[in-house]
Amino acid sequence: MTLHSVSESGVDVENCADINWDEIGFSPVPTDFMYVMKCAKGDNFSEGSLVPFGNIEINPFATIINYGQGIFEGLKAYRTEDGHIVLFRPEQNAQRMKMGADRFCMPSPSIDQFINAVKQTALANKRWVPPLGKGSLYIRPLLMGTGASLSVVPAPEYTLVVYCTPVTNYHKGALNLKVESKFYRAISGTGGTGGIKSVTNYAPVYAATTAAKADGFSDVLFLDSATGKNIEEVSACNVFVVKGNSICTPEANGAILPGITRKSIIEIALDLGYQVMERAVSLEEMLDADEVFCTGTAVVVNSVSSVTYKETR
Ligand code: COI
Repeated sequence: MTLHSVSESGVDVENCADINWDEIGFSPVPTDFMYVMKCAKGDNFSEGSLVPFGNIEINPFATIINYGQGIFEGLKAYRTEDGHIVLFRPEQNAQRMKMGADRFCMPSPSIDQFINAVKQTALANKRWVPPLGKGSLYIRPLLMGTGASLSVVPAPEYTLVVYCTPVTNYHKGALNLKVESKFYRAISGTGGTGGIKSVTNYAPVYAATTAAKADGFSDVLFLDSATGKNIEEVSACNVFVVKGNSICTPEANGAILPGITRKSIIEIALDLGYQVMERAVSLEEMLDADEVFCTGTAVVVNSVSSVTYKETR
Protein backbone atom coordinates (compact mmCIF):
# COMPACT_ATOMS: atom_id res chain seq x y z
CA MET A 1 0.00 0.00 0.00
CA THR A 2 1.85 3.10 -1.17
CA LEU A 3 1.94 6.56 0.29
CA HIS A 4 3.04 9.11 -2.29
CA SER A 5 5.46 11.66 -0.95
CA VAL A 6 4.49 15.15 -2.06
CA SER A 7 7.13 17.30 -0.40
CA GLU A 8 10.83 16.80 -1.07
CA SER A 9 11.91 17.93 2.36
CA GLY A 10 10.18 18.33 5.72
CA VAL A 11 7.62 21.12 5.75
CA ASP A 12 7.96 23.58 8.60
CA VAL A 13 4.98 22.97 10.89
CA GLU A 14 5.31 26.56 12.11
CA ASN A 15 4.16 27.58 8.63
CA CYS A 16 0.70 26.06 9.02
CA ALA A 17 -2.22 28.43 8.44
CA ASP A 18 -3.17 30.43 11.49
CA ILE A 19 -6.53 28.82 12.27
CA ASN A 20 -7.90 26.83 15.19
CA TRP A 21 -7.03 23.30 14.05
CA ASP A 22 -9.28 21.83 16.74
CA GLU A 23 -12.36 23.29 15.08
CA ILE A 24 -12.05 22.47 11.39
CA GLY A 25 -14.77 19.76 11.09
CA PHE A 26 -15.89 18.78 7.58
CA SER A 27 -16.87 21.94 5.75
CA PRO A 28 -15.22 24.02 3.05
CA VAL A 29 -12.44 26.35 4.21
CA PRO A 30 -11.21 28.50 1.30
CA THR A 31 -7.54 27.62 0.67
CA ASP A 32 -4.99 29.41 -1.54
CA PHE A 33 -4.87 27.67 -4.94
CA MET A 34 -6.74 25.28 -7.20
CA TYR A 35 -5.55 23.47 -10.31
CA VAL A 36 -7.41 23.86 -13.61
CA MET A 37 -6.95 21.85 -16.81
CA LYS A 38 -9.16 21.98 -19.91
CA CYS A 39 -9.72 19.74 -22.88
CA ALA A 40 -11.90 19.86 -26.01
CA LYS A 41 -14.09 16.85 -26.90
CA GLY A 42 -12.04 14.31 -28.86
CA ASP A 43 -8.72 15.71 -27.55
CA ASN A 44 -6.49 14.65 -24.67
CA PHE A 45 -5.87 16.79 -21.62
CA SER A 46 -2.58 18.69 -21.82
CA GLU A 47 -0.99 21.08 -19.34
CA GLY A 48 -3.08 22.69 -16.62
CA SER A 49 -2.07 25.35 -14.13
CA LEU A 50 -2.56 26.57 -10.59
CA VAL A 51 -4.80 29.60 -10.17
CA PRO A 52 -5.96 31.36 -7.00
CA PHE A 53 -8.81 29.49 -5.32
CA GLY A 54 -12.15 31.12 -6.10
CA ASN A 55 -15.44 30.88 -7.93
CA ILE A 56 -15.47 29.42 -11.42
CA GLU A 57 -17.34 30.92 -14.34
CA ILE A 58 -19.56 28.44 -16.17
CA ASN A 59 -21.80 28.58 -19.23
CA PRO A 60 -25.42 28.08 -18.10
CA PHE A 61 -25.78 25.47 -20.87
CA ALA A 62 -22.82 23.44 -19.51
CA THR A 63 -23.68 19.75 -19.44
CA ILE A 64 -22.65 19.30 -15.83
CA ILE A 65 -25.29 21.68 -14.52
CA ASN A 66 -28.02 20.64 -16.96
CA TYR A 67 -27.48 16.93 -17.49
CA GLY A 68 -25.17 15.88 -14.64
CA GLN A 69 -22.12 15.15 -16.81
CA GLY A 70 -19.67 15.24 -13.93
CA ILE A 71 -17.64 12.91 -11.73
CA PHE A 72 -15.38 13.60 -8.78
CA GLU A 73 -12.81 12.03 -6.52
CA GLY A 74 -11.86 12.54 -2.90
CA LEU A 75 -8.42 11.84 -1.47
CA LYS A 76 -6.34 13.05 1.41
CA ALA A 77 -2.88 14.48 2.07
CA TYR A 78 -1.41 13.94 5.53
CA ARG A 79 1.56 15.33 7.40
CA THR A 80 4.02 12.74 8.66
CA GLU A 81 5.89 12.93 11.96
CA ASP A 82 8.86 14.62 10.33
CA GLY A 83 6.64 17.13 8.55
CA HIS A 84 6.58 15.56 5.08
CA ILE A 85 3.31 15.56 3.16
CA VAL A 86 2.06 12.24 1.78
CA LEU A 87 -0.96 11.18 -0.30
CA PHE A 88 -2.89 7.95 0.23
CA ARG A 89 -3.03 5.81 -2.97
CA PRO A 90 -3.70 8.64 -5.48
CA GLU A 91 -3.19 6.28 -8.43
CA GLN A 92 -6.32 4.42 -7.33
CA ASN A 93 -8.37 7.61 -7.53
CA ALA A 94 -6.88 8.33 -10.95
CA GLN A 95 -7.97 4.91 -12.19
CA ARG A 96 -11.45 5.26 -10.75
CA MET A 97 -11.83 8.66 -12.41
CA LYS A 98 -10.92 7.07 -15.75
CA MET A 99 -13.60 4.43 -15.28
CA GLY A 100 -16.24 7.04 -14.46
CA ALA A 101 -15.16 9.26 -17.35
CA ASP A 102 -15.64 6.37 -19.79
CA ARG A 103 -19.14 5.73 -18.45
CA PHE A 104 -20.06 9.43 -18.84
CA CYS A 105 -18.37 9.85 -22.27
CA MET A 106 -15.77 12.29 -21.00
CA PRO A 107 -12.05 12.48 -21.72
CA SER A 108 -10.05 11.89 -18.55
CA PRO A 109 -6.61 12.99 -17.42
CA SER A 110 -3.89 10.31 -17.65
CA ILE A 111 -2.84 8.69 -14.36
CA ASP A 112 0.31 10.87 -14.33
CA GLN A 113 -1.63 14.04 -15.13
CA PHE A 114 -4.09 13.29 -12.34
CA ILE A 115 -1.36 12.61 -9.75
CA ASN A 116 0.60 15.66 -10.87
CA ALA A 117 -2.49 17.89 -10.55
CA VAL A 118 -3.21 16.52 -7.07
CA LYS A 119 0.41 16.93 -5.94
CA GLN A 120 0.61 20.49 -7.25
CA THR A 121 -2.63 21.35 -5.45
CA ALA A 122 -1.40 19.83 -2.17
CA LEU A 123 1.97 21.57 -2.36
CA ALA A 124 0.55 24.96 -3.31
CA ASN A 125 -1.74 24.69 -0.29
CA LYS A 126 0.74 23.03 2.07
CA ARG A 127 0.08 25.50 4.87
CA TRP A 128 -3.47 24.08 4.94
CA VAL A 129 -2.35 20.49 5.60
CA PRO A 130 -3.23 20.11 9.30
CA PRO A 131 -0.50 19.42 11.85
CA LEU A 132 -0.01 15.73 12.62
CA GLY A 133 -3.01 14.34 14.50
CA LYS A 134 -5.29 17.29 13.67
CA GLY A 135 -6.80 15.95 10.45
CA SER A 136 -5.87 15.99 6.77
CA LEU A 137 -6.14 18.01 3.59
CA TYR A 138 -9.16 16.69 1.66
CA ILE A 139 -8.48 17.05 -2.07
CA ARG A 140 -11.38 17.07 -4.50
CA PRO A 141 -10.68 16.54 -8.23
CA LEU A 142 -13.85 17.34 -10.19
CA LEU A 143 -14.14 16.47 -13.89
CA MET A 144 -17.03 18.13 -15.65
CA GLY A 145 -18.60 18.86 -18.99
CA THR A 146 -18.22 22.63 -19.18
CA GLY A 147 -19.05 23.04 -22.85
CA ALA A 148 -22.58 24.15 -23.76
CA SER A 149 -25.17 21.76 -25.13
CA LEU A 150 -28.94 21.89 -25.31
CA SER A 151 -29.23 18.41 -26.78
CA VAL A 152 -28.58 15.49 -24.48
CA VAL A 153 -25.14 14.76 -25.93
CA PRO A 154 -21.60 14.88 -24.48
CA ALA A 155 -20.23 18.43 -24.03
CA PRO A 156 -17.81 19.95 -26.54
CA GLU A 157 -15.42 20.95 -23.69
CA TYR A 158 -14.27 19.50 -20.35
CA THR A 159 -12.59 20.94 -17.26
CA LEU A 160 -10.76 19.24 -14.42
CA VAL A 161 -10.61 21.39 -11.29
CA VAL A 162 -8.69 20.19 -8.25
CA TYR A 163 -9.34 22.04 -4.99
CA CYS A 164 -8.92 21.26 -1.33
CA THR A 165 -9.82 22.03 2.24
CA PRO A 166 -8.52 20.92 5.63
CA VAL A 167 -10.84 18.44 7.38
CA THR A 168 -11.27 16.11 10.29
CA ASN A 169 -13.53 13.06 10.08
CA TYR A 170 -16.92 13.30 8.39
CA HIS A 171 -18.87 11.99 11.38
CA LYS A 172 -18.20 12.64 15.02
CA GLY A 173 -18.26 9.36 16.93
CA ALA A 174 -19.95 6.06 16.13
CA LEU A 175 -22.85 6.02 13.66
CA ASN A 176 -26.44 5.27 14.47
CA LEU A 177 -27.82 4.30 11.09
CA LYS A 178 -31.38 4.29 9.83
CA VAL A 179 -32.18 1.70 7.17
CA GLU A 180 -34.02 3.47 4.36
CA SER A 181 -37.10 1.65 3.12
CA LYS A 182 -38.57 4.19 0.66
CA PHE A 183 -35.71 5.59 -1.43
CA TYR A 184 -32.76 3.90 -3.14
CA ARG A 185 -29.26 5.23 -3.76
CA ALA A 186 -28.67 3.47 -7.09
CA ILE A 187 -30.32 0.92 -9.33
CA SER A 188 -29.17 -2.63 -8.69
CA GLY A 189 -26.89 -4.46 -11.08
CA THR A 190 -24.30 -3.47 -13.62
CA GLY A 191 -26.18 -1.11 -15.94
CA GLY A 192 -26.51 1.87 -13.62
CA THR A 193 -24.11 4.44 -12.26
CA GLY A 194 -23.93 3.46 -8.56
CA GLY A 195 -20.41 2.15 -9.12
CA ILE A 196 -18.96 5.41 -10.37
CA LYS A 197 -18.35 8.57 -8.39
CA SER A 198 -20.76 10.70 -10.36
CA VAL A 199 -22.22 13.95 -9.07
CA THR A 200 -25.63 12.44 -9.82
CA ASN A 201 -25.30 9.85 -7.03
CA TYR A 202 -25.34 12.25 -4.12
CA ALA A 203 -28.31 14.66 -4.20
CA PRO A 204 -30.72 11.68 -4.51
CA VAL A 205 -29.84 10.69 -0.92
CA TYR A 206 -30.80 14.08 0.55
CA ALA A 207 -34.48 13.28 1.06
CA ALA A 208 -33.65 10.19 3.12
CA THR A 209 -30.73 11.67 5.06
CA THR A 210 -32.54 14.92 5.87
CA ALA A 211 -35.50 13.00 7.32
CA ALA A 212 -33.22 10.59 9.21
CA LYS A 213 -31.10 13.37 10.69
CA ALA A 214 -34.25 15.17 11.85
CA ASP A 215 -35.06 11.96 13.77
CA GLY A 216 -31.61 11.92 15.43
CA PHE A 217 -29.84 9.40 13.16
CA SER A 218 -26.32 10.07 11.92
CA ASP A 219 -26.83 8.67 8.44
CA VAL A 220 -28.85 6.36 6.21
CA LEU A 221 -28.11 2.83 5.02
CA PHE A 222 -29.59 2.07 1.58
CA LEU A 223 -30.91 -1.31 0.44
CA ASP A 224 -30.69 -2.80 -3.05
CA SER A 225 -33.39 -1.59 -5.40
CA ALA A 226 -34.12 -5.04 -6.89
CA THR A 227 -35.18 -6.92 -3.75
CA GLY A 228 -35.03 -4.38 -0.90
CA LYS A 229 -33.44 -7.15 1.19
CA ASN A 230 -29.69 -6.63 0.83
CA ILE A 231 -27.61 -3.80 2.23
CA GLU A 232 -25.74 -1.60 -0.25
CA GLU A 233 -24.13 1.57 0.95
CA VAL A 234 -24.43 4.47 3.39
CA SER A 235 -24.89 7.92 1.79
CA ALA A 236 -21.15 8.65 1.58
CA CYS A 237 -19.37 5.43 2.58
CA ASN A 238 -19.16 1.65 2.21
CA VAL A 239 -20.28 -0.75 4.90
CA PHE A 240 -18.82 -3.94 6.46
CA VAL A 241 -20.40 -6.60 8.67
CA VAL A 242 -18.32 -8.68 11.11
CA LYS A 243 -19.31 -12.05 12.54
CA GLY A 244 -16.63 -13.97 14.39
CA ASN A 245 -13.59 -14.21 12.15
CA SER A 246 -15.43 -13.35 8.95
CA ILE A 247 -15.97 -9.94 7.45
CA CYS A 248 -18.51 -9.37 4.67
CA THR A 249 -19.12 -6.36 2.50
CA PRO A 250 -21.50 -5.94 -0.46
CA GLU A 251 -19.68 -6.83 -3.65
CA ALA A 252 -18.79 -3.98 -6.00
CA ASN A 253 -21.28 -5.17 -8.61
CA GLY A 254 -21.97 -1.88 -10.36
CA ALA A 255 -24.32 -0.47 -7.74
CA ILE A 256 -21.69 -0.09 -4.98
CA LEU A 257 -18.92 2.50 -5.09
CA PRO A 258 -15.60 0.62 -5.25
CA GLY A 259 -14.13 2.61 -2.35
CA ILE A 260 -10.37 2.91 -2.00
CA THR A 261 -10.58 2.73 1.80
CA ARG A 262 -12.89 -0.29 1.31
CA LYS A 263 -10.26 -1.99 -0.84
CA SER A 264 -7.49 -1.12 1.64
CA ILE A 265 -9.46 -2.51 4.59
CA ILE A 266 -10.11 -5.75 2.68
CA GLU A 267 -6.37 -6.09 2.03
CA ILE A 268 -5.46 -5.35 5.66
CA ALA A 269 -8.14 -7.71 7.06
CA LEU A 270 -6.90 -10.55 4.81
CA ASP A 271 -3.32 -9.87 5.99
CA LEU A 272 -4.56 -10.06 9.58
CA GLY A 273 -6.07 -13.51 8.95
CA TYR A 274 -9.76 -12.62 8.68
CA GLN A 275 -11.93 -14.37 6.14
CA VAL A 276 -13.21 -11.58 3.88
CA MET A 277 -16.16 -12.02 1.54
CA GLU A 278 -17.43 -9.58 -1.07
CA ARG A 279 -20.96 -10.80 -1.74
CA ALA A 280 -24.62 -9.93 -1.25
CA VAL A 281 -25.19 -9.22 2.46
CA SER A 282 -28.77 -9.36 3.70
CA LEU A 283 -30.18 -6.84 6.14
CA GLU A 284 -31.07 -9.78 8.37
CA GLU A 285 -27.43 -10.83 8.46
CA MET A 286 -26.39 -7.32 9.37
CA LEU A 287 -28.87 -7.11 12.22
CA ASP A 288 -27.35 -10.35 13.58
CA ALA A 289 -23.70 -9.20 13.25
CA ASP A 290 -21.15 -8.86 16.05
CA GLU A 291 -19.96 -5.57 14.65
CA VAL A 292 -20.67 -3.18 11.77
CA PHE A 293 -18.37 -0.47 10.45
CA CYS A 294 -18.19 1.98 7.57
CA THR A 295 -15.27 3.05 5.39
CA GLY A 296 -14.61 5.95 3.05
CA THR A 297 -12.11 8.69 2.35
CA ALA A 298 -14.18 11.26 4.20
CA VAL A 299 -15.47 8.85 6.85
CA VAL A 300 -12.15 6.95 7.20
CA VAL A 301 -13.13 3.88 9.33
CA ASN A 302 -16.08 4.49 11.61
CA SER A 303 -17.85 2.04 13.88
CA VAL A 304 -21.63 1.69 13.83
CA SER A 305 -23.31 1.80 17.24
CA SER A 306 -26.83 0.92 16.08
CA VAL A 307 -28.87 0.03 12.98
CA THR A 308 -32.59 0.76 13.00
CA TYR A 309 -35.00 -0.76 10.50
CA LYS A 310 -38.65 0.30 10.74
CA GLU A 311 -38.04 1.12 14.42
CA THR A 312 -36.50 -2.34 15.10
CA ARG A 313 -32.87 -2.25 16.24
C1 COI B 1 -15.33 10.63 0.04
O1 COI B 1 -15.28 9.85 1.00
O2 COI B 1 -14.34 11.09 -0.50
C2 COI B 1 -16.57 11.08 -0.48
O3 COI B 1 -16.64 11.33 -1.64
C3 COI B 1 -17.68 11.32 0.41
C4 COI B 1 -18.19 12.69 0.16
C5 COI B 1 -19.39 12.62 -0.71
C6 COI B 1 -18.43 13.41 1.44
